[in-house]
Amino acid sequence: MKLFPFLLFSFIILFNFCSAANVTYDRRSLIIDGQRKLLISAAIHYPRSVPGMWPGLVQTAKEGGVDAIESYVFWNGHELSPGKYNFEGRYDLVKFVKIVQQAGMYMILRIGPFVAAEWNFGGVPVWLHYVPGTVFRSDNEPFKYYMQKFMTFIVNLMKQEKLFASQGGPIILAQVENEYGFYEQFYGEGAKRYVKWAAGMAVSQNIGVPWIMCQQDDAPDPVINTCNSFYCDQFTPNSPNKPKIWTENWPGWFKTFGARDPHRPPEDVAFSVARFFQKGGSVQNYYMYHGGTNFGRTSGGPFITTSYDYEAPIDEYGLPRLPKWGHLKDLHSAIKLCKHALLKSEPTTLSLGPSQEADVYDDGSGVCSAFLANMDDKTDKDVVFRNVSYHLPAWSVSILPDCKNVVFNTAKVGSQASVVEMVPDEFQPSVASPSKGLKALKWDIFVENAGIWGEADFIKNGFVDHINTTKDTTDYLWYTTSIIVGENEEFLRKGSHPVLLIESKGHALHAFVNQELEGSASGNGSHSQFKFENPISLKAGKNEIALLSMTVGLQNAGGLYEWVGAGLTSVKIKGLNNGTIDLSMSNWTYKIGLQGEHLGIYKPDSLNGVNWVSTSEPPKNQPLTWYKVVLDPPSGDEPVGLDMIHMGKGQAWLNGEEIGRYWPIKSSKHEKCIQECDYRGKFFPDKCLTGCGEPTQRWYHVPRYWFKPSGNILVIFEEKGGDPTKITFSKRKTSGLCSLIAEDYPMIDQDSVQKDGSGNGKTRPTVHLKCPQNTSISNVKFASFGNPTGRCGSYSKGNCHDPNSTFVVEKVCLGKNECAIEVAEENFDRGLCPGITKKLAVEAVCS
Ligand code: GAL
Repeated sequence: MKLFPFLLFSFIILFNFCSAANVTYDRRSLIIDGQRKLLISAAIHYPRSVPGMWPGLVQTAKEGGVDAIESYVFWNGHELSPGKYNFEGRYDLVKFVKIVQQAGMYMILRIGPFVAAEWNFGGVPVWLHYVPGTVFRSDNEPFKYYMQKFMTFIVNLMKQEKLFASQGGPIILAQVENEYGFYEQFYGEGAKRYVKWAAGMAVSQNIGVPWIMCQQDDAPDPVINTCNSFYCDQFTPNSPNKPKIWTENWPGWFKTFGARDPHRPPEDVAFSVARFFQKGGSVQNYYMYHGGTNFGRTSGGPFITTSYDYEAPIDEYGLPRLPKWGHLKDLHSAIKLCKHALLKSEPTTLSLGPSQEADVYDDGSGVCSAFLANMDDKTDKDVVFRNVSYHLPAWSVSILPDCKNVVFNTAKVGSQASVVEMVPDEFQPSVASPSKGLKALKWDIFVENAGIWGEADFIKNGFVDHINTTKDTTDYLWYTTSIIVGENEEFLRKGSHPVLLIESKGHALHAFVNQELEGSASGNGSHSQFKFENPISLKAGKNEIALLSMTVGLQNAGGLYEWVGAGLTSVKIKGLNNGTIDLSMSNWTYKIGLQGEHLGIYKPDSLNGVNWVSTSEPPKNQPLTWYKVVLDPPSGDEPVGLDMIHMGKGQAWLNGEEIGRYWPIKSSKHEKCIQECDYRGKFFPDKCLTGCGEPTQRWYHVPRYWFKPSGNILVIFEEKGGDPTKITFSKRKTSGLCSLIAEDYPMIDQDSVQKDGSGNGKTRPTVHLKCPQNTSISNVKFASFGNPTGRCGSYSKGNCHDPNSTFVVEKVCLGKNECAIEVAEENFDRGLCPGITKKLAVEAVCS
């Protein structure tokens, strides 16, 4: 009996998604099967997580009120060499799109194939740069040939799997190129021709759904030009027949090694989204909604960190980031409640003050919604709208789905915040390892030669470009030479040191003399170039100089970006009898990559060909060392990070899967960091930086899916020296929850909001706490009904406080997975501090 409704429901869902949908558009919105749509979209890049995580990520987006998933297609992950395609594992695009379909969501596919995206080489395969005569992203025959070939391949794959909406699939929009408008100027006359060609080529693919081009004012019809920015409310498409689409709203920002940590407050993200819909927008996408991880050597930049967390609504590890995720969920519900009015009527804009305005969508038949905005970035304002007074905090929007009741204000965060910790978890020797029975871990070591190993690749007078030489098959290129030091050199007698001077186009360098590491240097996210200047130890006779040049991700954007090189440009030694000698035009011997890479030392099945040396005490502070250790997985099911704070720089693998580059390089202590971020006013990436003097990235995500029950092989290549005995796993745990809500907070009743945008929407201000699955509230650390202040983790009581607060909260919440307490005097001390608007702040512990 119970099965029947379920089957019927499944049938309806299947039917809905298997029947071809007609996707068109006009000025107001996309129209799918005759129905106008307001869409919230979320970028989740499939190769930045693992397939096992995909259903959960998509589901968390859906629960967050998202309608569509957006992703680029990553050409260099798919076409490894001309015509050799890869759709395995993290690159299983069809599987990803089908997961989105199964969740009953739409998909926006940004085929590019240039993507930028802080992804290696902007997503274009490095091999294409070496096809003679190729200039990327221009009216250039080889580029157009390979671009068209790849796009056609992807389109055909999607068609074959019936994934376009026109075939009953989830894909409602496709993108060609990416922000080319920003760079057209670099490509001369041919740029316009290229744009026309790209648009025409895309349209001729006959996918049955519209094409978009982002940041492309001259996108030819019928291709829709869209906006990418922190704010897009003022954007207008290039034709009155195209809808206003925001393809990239950046809810945070990416990080570069050695730099500080950017933060975009949820209040400002919500403000930008509300303003967009207030001003007639109809599709809004968060770039990123889940940023994820740049596994292996996929990050670009250069210098983009392995983490691509992006401070997105879902964190790198797949957990909802609170309160950002919840605040945006509330916002999405509020916008959905306005859907009918927004899509049915034209707005009327009313001025409510010098920087305050209302947009009213009223069709005259009783369906009316309004957005009241205060764009003043300092001052709160009371405004009067339809004879009612409304308090608008600075830089905020209030949403009134019925033109009367406020259900949401972008600056009032009503959803819970969380305290997330990385809890150390010591390495556990594996039961399957030969060390069974021993308490200590067993390590294996393999040490690289500093300089040429095996046969040299070639010898040349002077320098080659690093990237042209490695073709990005590895980060590493050895530049080696030698010098003869005469016995009569003064410095030998004085015991002083000559100085090695190196200049490089980028990105990083370790300098070895006679097998000893003499020093390291690197550029950074803003300047790849750098200089190295270090005293070195030279002896009488022959001295080997071995310089390990490294790339840290290839350039991913900019005009003619594929021509930006890397590697050494000058090497000199100062302080010899003859003054300074210039070695730049000397005889240099080159070796591409490391011996370990050549041996495939990180692959579990090629470990036999390697002369590992076993030890129970792995060496510390030793450069150029490969470490291997066999482990059990950390207990529990929390996401896992590898804590590399005690290591130098290198790469890591688990069971042959590429964790990525690690480099706990610290940002400068002397730069400016903030304690608290003021959400008010225009956001820019440097506005709210934290982490001065701390490693940009300390933990490196190791997906749970990569672990076996035992016998896991962790391989680490350390370039300059670290302490491997101090490496631990860390488990990402939500240990606490917080909420601070005032009696006058508008609150949306999530349960009453229907998918079709109906429901009454408003509820009374309530503190709602929910622990992660299988945990419950074990302790109420702080509770105050009165006028508490502060932030999650540091709330403090004010001069108005109900001493029973903790008791009241404990009674409702202790031992529960979730609980709700209305912020009302009835629940606390009636008549407490009359005349003030009271708040309830709670911090609780989940375990
Ligand atoms: C945009 C680009 C994206 C990404 C973003 C910054 O300009 O289209 O791919 O790079 O900037 O995260």
